[in-house]
Amino acid sequence: MKRIVIVLLFVAISTHAVLAQINIIPQPVEIKTGQGYFKLNPNSGISYPANNTDARRVAEQLAQQLSRVTGYKIPVLSGIMTTGLGNITLNINANLDPKLGNEGYNLKVNETITTITANSAAGLFYGVQTFKQLLPDEIEGMVKAENIQWQAPAVEITDYPRFGWRGLMLDVSRHFFNKEEVKRYIDDMVKYKYNILHFHLTDDQGWRIEIKSLPKLTEVGAWNVKKTGRFGTFSKPDSTEPRDYGGFYTQEDISELVQYAKDRFVNIVPEIDVPGHSLAAIASYPELVSTPGKYYVNSGEKFMEWPPKGHFYGLIDNTLNPASEKVYTFLDKVFTEIAQLFPFEYIHMGGDETARNFWEKSAEIKALMQKEKLKNLDEVQAYFVTRVNKIINSKGKKMIGWDEILDGGLTPGAAVMSWRGGQAGVSGMSGGARAAKMGHEVVMTPQDFVYLDYMQGDEIMEPKVYASLRMKKVYSFEPIPEGVDPKFIKGGQGNLWTEQVYNLRQLQYMTWPRGLALSEAVWSPKSSRNWSDFITRVEDQLARLTMAGTKYSPAMYEPDIKASKAGANGVEVQLNTEIDGVDVYYSFDNSFPDNYYPKYTAPVTVPKDAEQLRIVSYRNGRQVGRPMTISVAELRKRAGL
Ligand code: ACM
Repeated sequence: MKRIVIVLLFVAISTHAVLAQINIIPQPVEIKTGQGYFKLNPNSGISYPANNTDARRVAEQLAQQLSRVTGYKIPVLSGIMTTGLGNITLNINANLDPKLGNEGYNLKVNETITTITANSAAGLFYGVQTFKQLLPDEIEGMVKAENIQWQAPAVEITDYPRFGWRGLMLDVSRHFFNKEEVKRYIDDMVKYKYNILHFHLTDDQGWRIEIKSLPKLTEVGAWNVKKTGRFGTFSKPDSTEPRDYGGFYTQEDISELVQYAKDRFVNIVPEIDVPGHSLAAIASYPELVSTPGKYYVNSGEKFMEWPPKGHFYGLIDNTLNPASEKVYTFLDKVFTEIAQLFPFEYIHMGGDETARNFWEKSAEIKALMQKEKLKNLDEVQAYFVTRVNKIINSKGKKMIGWDEILDGGLTPGAAVMSWRGGQAGVSGMSGGARAAKMGHEVVMTPQDFVYLDYMQGDEIMEPKVYASLRMKKVYSFEPIPEGVDPKFIKGGQGNLWTEQVYNLRQLQYMTWPRGLALSEAVWSPKSSRNWSDFITRVEDQLARLTMAGTKYSPAMYEPDIKASKAGANGVEVQLNTEIDGVDVYYSFDNSFPDNYYPKYTAPVTVPKDAEQLRIVSYRNGRQVGRPMTISVAELRKRAGL
């Protein structure tokens, strides 16, 4: 009997070995599984094509990571290395493989060697990211891991991206994230083949980049009053509260970040958000606003109104004065320095959410309208955007802006970043669809699908934000709007606004794992999207995120709590999770449930005198969700009682 068990165990192990699960995110274009394993050993080395410094850097980055966790001293060698058990060879194609393009790669892993071939160093870099995902989770650790079989299953992968613009936007204005934190964010994003960091550098809460010709922008504009709690509800700072919270990047910091990103094949898109969202600039240089007054950088106290119906308006004027030549002189100085600091071809000028109520009252703006024959404030904004476009073009750069820059007629040559209106066929034609139909280049960042500041799960579990966005919805993001010529769609991007994000841990939490879903929407073939298969792969990545010390949200395991009326005065609760195979247990008796408690299988009626519902999620017998507690009073509210 014992022998049979041992034999069965052996069969089970070897079957597992043959059917190694390949869990790559984003899903590659083509995977052919092979037999056996490639094994790293103390004599493994990495070769790169001679005289290719970018490829050498890719090899060095990999060698460093492998050496750290394995404890082997893995050398980096110039020239092709075709033999030697456990070696890794990086090759650049002598003749371009058109299928791979600039970022694609071919990865061959067999029992002898691993070979990555690409047309460019960028392709090698992405091949390396995939290869690392074939190795054990401990590859992502910070220290040497003991007793690990450093092996990768034999496989051949051919892969290339669907879109050239695969972005994440980081808002460093609402809360400042220092240089090391930004580097850490870049480290995490490139693992999933993102190649654009859109840097939201200015807003009402802080100006974050040194402009040498305008020193007050960072002497004054980079600092506000530290407040703790829920942004947007803070008390108005009084004069005794120090304005010492915030920070900015010196130009040396920016150059360092640009280089750090470039070394990882990431372009940084700088955003200077004008004419709205400009309180930090106005506090620094009050002559830029059309409404005279004393201005302060906002610290999270309310200063705008968003009526449920009708247009939003400012309680104070946070807009640059489109009628003032001083504003264009200011912007010329800003964009001169920005253009010198950031090599990427685009500069983002914001353009979103300009409150118009102070513009309506300005005699100067009325005079501008007469002089320039501008019929309304949309046309005033269009006049401003056209002037800014000219300035940006004069620095040798192309302009991109949020889709409000379409209002009043879009200036030729400008690209649009579309955030409003969802997608065609879902909630009206998006700004992106309109712009593409007019022949403008477009990056799709629809708020309903990719706003990473939105709550990931039930709102009782999250810092309160005005909307929710489950990972499943992110996974359904299709960057090409219906009826639009794909050639105008450069790609897609997730936007992480940081009003409610106070630290790096929360930044990571908001990004992952939704960033995994988005990476697949912008890299993988549309036809390969498969939610349940994706979840299997996500679970493998969660272990890697843990190894890397990167925080993520477990919301995908936690149910949405829905309540509806039942009978005369009763309430019925529905607990639905976005993935299958999650078991939800609950209690109404105030004790904390575990997997011995009643399991949710169908809507449950709330007992008449219950005070609260407690919930916890398990998967395969292991707790995966956080304990959740919701009061019956809140359930009754959700039921409309
Ligand atoms: C935006 O979300 N205001 C672009």
